[in-house]
Amino acid sequence: MAEIWIVGATGRAGQSISAELRAGGHQIVLVGRNAQRLTEAAAAIEALGGPTPRTLVTDDPVAQIATDRPDVVVNTVGPFGTTTVPTARACVTAGSHYVDLANEFQPVRSLSELDSAARAAGSTLVTGAGFGVLATEALVYELCAGRPSPTRVRVAAMPVVDGLGPAVLASVIDAAATGGLIYRNGRLERTRLGAHPQHTPLPDGTTRATVAVPTGELEAALRASGAGTIIATSSEVPTGRAARAALPIIGAVLRVDALRRTAIRLVDRWRLTPPSTPGETSWAYACAEWDGGETHQAWLQTGEGYGFTSRVAATVAARIADGDARAGAFTPAALFGADLARSAGATITIDSTAKDPR
Ligand SMILES: NC(=O)c1ccc[n+]([C@@H]2O[C@H](COP(=O)([O-])OP(=O)(O)OC[C@H]3O[C@@H](n4cnc5c(N)ncnc54)[C@H](OP(=O)(O)O)[C@@H]3O)[C@@H](O)[C@H]2O)c1
Repeated sequence: MAEIWIVGATGRAGQSISAELRAGGHQIVLVGRNAQRLTEAAAAIEALGGPTPRTLVTDDPVAQIATDRPDVVVNTVGPFGTTTVPTARACVTAGSHYVDLANEFQPVRSLSELDSAARAAGSTLVTGAGFGVLATEALVYELCAGRPSPTRVRVAAMPVVDGLGPAVLASVIDAAATGGLIYRNGRLERTRLGAHPQHTPLPDGTTRATVAVPTGELEAALRASGAGTIIATSSEVPTGRAARAALPIIGAVLRVDALRRTAIRLVDRWRLTPPSTPGETSWAYACAEWDGGETHQAWLQTGEGYGFTSRVAATVAARIADGDARAGAFTPAALFGADLARSAGATITIDSTAKDPR
């Protein structure tokens, strides 16, 4: 049976993905840097039934992949701007397959540069295997299926989560340093961090406040739609006027390499976590507009965000382990279609009559 490594197995997402894979009968190896936390994570998996999973303590998963050549690697260690490309490249060299949870713009964009090497090596590489990127990407694929490319696409991610790990804050720091980005007329354009405040509509007629953020969803929406103008927004950053005024200043400070690295080190050392948005229902939204004003909207609805993320990452890893994936570099819906989101417990609703009230 194929062996699936969970790198960052002591974290919130890593533990939950491990539990999903164990429940599906897959052979997992818990990989981490801290022996004590790894033993606790293994005991938690054992408590679900079955044997204690194998653990592997390492400070250098990239070197370990080169030596051990595992079948599939699930990377849950953010910020992914640091880990995605080196880990995926090690997988290609080792002939392993690779899955991660990145939703930062740069790593999601950069993974595609490994596409031809991955195809030559027979490796499958999937980035964004979580609520972000998949939730909005699945909607864009649904809206664009069988149609020419739209002129404009807007996506919004509105997850709810019970709690967040320190690595999430490190990923947020990295993303903030990227600054605001949108695609306009086919070109990547800098914009103010927190620009484009929107009242994103929900199917029940209420709205959620969202602002533009430079996520991997921006790049995935481009590939899924071919649209010239794309804005990716999120409810996960503060949307009030004062916060929006402060965001560009915070972004500028974090663009100084030394300050950003120090901030990430402190978050890790003090195990700081960002505030979470609890709730029952996570939403994603996409709106596509064609020449002549034809406009279609779609919503994805699911439960707590980590639950969805874990099912997505586990399903992607399991399908790859079972030989059900072609070689190359992908985002999740680009490889498995929008049905992957449904199989992870989401429902998708499409409305071809209403206008995006931007
Ligand atoms: N795409 C999505 O929808 C989605 C959803 C959820 C999470 N995420 C992302 O996934 C990542 C993990 O989230 P989480 O909530 O599971 O975070 P977490 O609970 O803080 O877990 C992070 C894991 O990474 C390990 N780690 C952190 N820094 C490391 C380093 N420098 N070297 C080796 N291992 C390191 C930690 O090990 P220790 O136990 O030793 O600290 C832990 O196992 C974050 O970047 C987050 O933004 C994405």
